[in-house]
Amino acid sequence: MSRRVLVAGNWKMHKTAAEAAALAGEIRSGWSAGAVEALLCPPFPALAAVAAAIAGSELVLGAQNVHWEDAGAYTGEVAAPMLREVGCRYCIAGHSERRRLFGEDDAQVARKLAALWRHGISPVLCVGEDLEQRRGGRTRQVVGEQLTAALAGVVPREDLVVAYEPVWAIGTGEPAGETDAQAVAAHLRERLQSLWGAAAGEVRILYGGSVVPDNLRRFLSQPDVDGVLVGGASLRADSFLALLREASL
Ligand code: PGA
Repeated sequence: MSRRVLVAGNWKMHKTAAEAAALAGEIRSGWSAGAVEALLCPPFPALAAVAAAIAGSELVLGAQNVHWEDAGAYTGEVAAPMLREVGCRYCIAGHSERRRLFGEDDAQVARKLAALWRHGISPVLCVGEDLEQRRGGRTRQVVGEQLTAALAGVVPREDLVVAYEPVWAIGTGEPAGETDAQAVAAHLRERLQSLWGAAAGEVRILYGGSVVPDNLRRFLSQPDVDGVLVGGASLRADSFLALLREASL
């Protein structure tokens, strides 16, 4: 079992291509590659510029969304072969903002995962409960169902990344407690184990939701938390570099 720590920045709908390239360049020059894997997920129009800015470094590129077909009449959508060609190694799928604001459902997320794997891109599958579900004591059930639905019929894939992101913790400055994050991550790994057996031990499980340099170690010190998915604190070079430094300790 060797799960390399992953620090992933989800830039959401921030940064023009020029701004994104500048940020990626600053991160590149401030970071010395090591044990931690560092992933940058800019918006679509910035992917090529960021790919160029990080070329030849160990920083890796990811997208934030994908369509499930490889091509077709889907105005406004982007397909996995396009992401692959521009250099994406990862792609976020099923982020709660996509589920909540754009009506993405588990069946679509499952198809997105299949499309990514067809083209050699590793999915970062997001799952997480909202506040009402949490208050109703349904966290494990909700994330377990999201995981199972997304992986229906999938053969074990050790390159899967799962991000546990409680919806109420995203962008609020109120992260989950580390003990809670560990309990949910362990539950997700158990679920994976029952679906996939031993491969579950290789899958990385991230925590996401108001992660900042000051709280990152609390999460990373948990046995089933293998990295973080970060929004706000990934948008500036100094804070993203601080996250990478903390993760490397
Ligand atoms: P946040 O976002 O770090 O700004 O809370 C996390 C995410 O949505 O992935």
